[in-house]
Amino acid sequence: MVTQPPISDKILPALKAPGAGNDTDLELIDGGLQCVQTGETFMDANGVPSLFAPTDPNADQTDVTTRIKSFYEEYPFPNYDGLQEFGDLVNLGYSSQFSKDLLRAIGSKKLILECGCGTGQLSHFLQLNNNQVLGIDMSLGSLGLAVEHKQRNQLARSSFAQMNIFSLAVKDESMDVVISHGVLHHTFDARRAFMQIIKKVKPGGIVVVGLYNSISRIPTWVRSKFINVLGSNIDYVVRNHFRDARKADIWVKDQYFNPHETWHSIDEVMDWFKEGGIEYRNCRPAIMGTNGEDLPGMFDKSLPGSKYQRIVTQLSWLTSIAREGTLFDVIGRKPE
Ligand SMILES: C[S@@+](CC[C@H](N)C(=O)[O-])C[C@H]1O[C@@H](n2cnc3c(N)ncnc32)[C@H](O)[C@@H]1O
Repeated sequence: MVTQPPISDKILPALKAPGAGNDTDLELIDGGLQCVQTGETFMDANGVPSLFAPTDPNADQTDVTTRIKSFYEEYPFPNYDGLQEFGDLVNLGYSSQFSKDLLRAIGSKKLILECGCGTGQLSHFLQLNNNQVLGIDMSLGSLGLAVEHKQRNQLARSSFAQMNIFSLAVKDESMDVVISHGVLHHTFDARRAFMQIIKKVKPGGIVVVGLYNSISRIPTWVRSKFINVLGSNIDYVVRNHFRDARKADIWVKDQYFNPHETWHSIDEVMDWFKEGGIEYRNCRPAIMGTNGEDLPGMFDKSLPGSKYQRIVTQLSWLTSIAREGTLFDVIGRKPE
C-alpha cells in the first residue's frame, strides 16, 4: 500500500508556522513540517502532523482547553466502529441530511477547513467531488483515527493536523469553506473562537457554524441529572441508533459528561456574524415562516425572519433536534 502524504500539495500552501504571520510557508520533511523562511521544524506527534500552539496564557479560562483536550484524548469522537471502510463512511454521510446537503452545497474542487474535526469523518466525506479538506483538532487520539482511515482507504484529498482553534496555523483568507460543527461550545469563549475561524475564509467564501441551542439543550441537561440512576437508555440516540456498546458509551460521555459546554441562540450567532462582517445566508434546521425551508441549497440566501419567528423556531426544536444532540447550524458568507 502506498503511503499518502500527510498533507496534500493543494493544502500545504495554505499552512503557515503556528503563531507566525501569513508570509511564512511550510514544507514537508521526513516525519514533520519545516518553516521555509526560518528553518524551524514541527515534528509529527504519534504520526500526526502537529502545529499545535497553546492558547494565549493571558486569556481567561485557558484550563478549559486543557480539560477538553484530555477529555477527547480519552474519548475520541465520533466513534469509528463499523466505518473502517470508506464506502461505509460514505453511506453514513449520505444517510445524514446535514452532511448530504452540505456536500451538495459545497460542490466540487473547493478548499475546505474543518475546525474541530474530531476523528475526521465529516472531513473524509467532504473530500468527495474533488474537494480538498484540512481537518484540524487538538486531540491526537481523534486525529490518529482520522489519519488511520485516510491511509487505509488511500484518501489523498483529506489532510489532518493538530492545531488549536485559538492559534490556527492556516493563512488568512485561504479557504473557500470553513466549517466548525459541534465544537465552539466546547471552547472557553465560543464568540472569540468564531472570530478566529472566520479569518481563514476567502472573500466570497462560506462559514458554517454548528452549536448547542440554548432552548433545546434543556432536556439533555435534565436527563444528565438522572442518567446515572436511570441508565443510558433514557437517551433517544442510544435507544435508536447504537447497538454497539462502545459507540453508545462515547456518545453518552460526549453528551452528558463533557467537562465544558455552552449554549447559544440563533440571535447570538447572528450578532457574531454582524460583528465579524459575515452576511447571514441560512439556518439548519430552517427558521420557521421564512423561505429557508424551501430553498434547494444550504448556502442559498434566505430570510432571517423576525425575533418572534426565531423564538418560535427554537421552541419547536424541543420536539426535534432536542432528541439528537441539539445542534443547529448557521451559515454565512464573507462579502467579496
Ligand atoms: C464534539 S467533538 C466534534 C467532532 C466533530 N466536529 C463532529 O461533529 O463529530 C468536539 C471536538 O472539538 C475539539 N476541540 C475543542 N476545542 C478545540 C480547540 N480549541 N482547538 C481544536 N480543537 C478543539 C475537540 O478535541 C473535539 O474533537
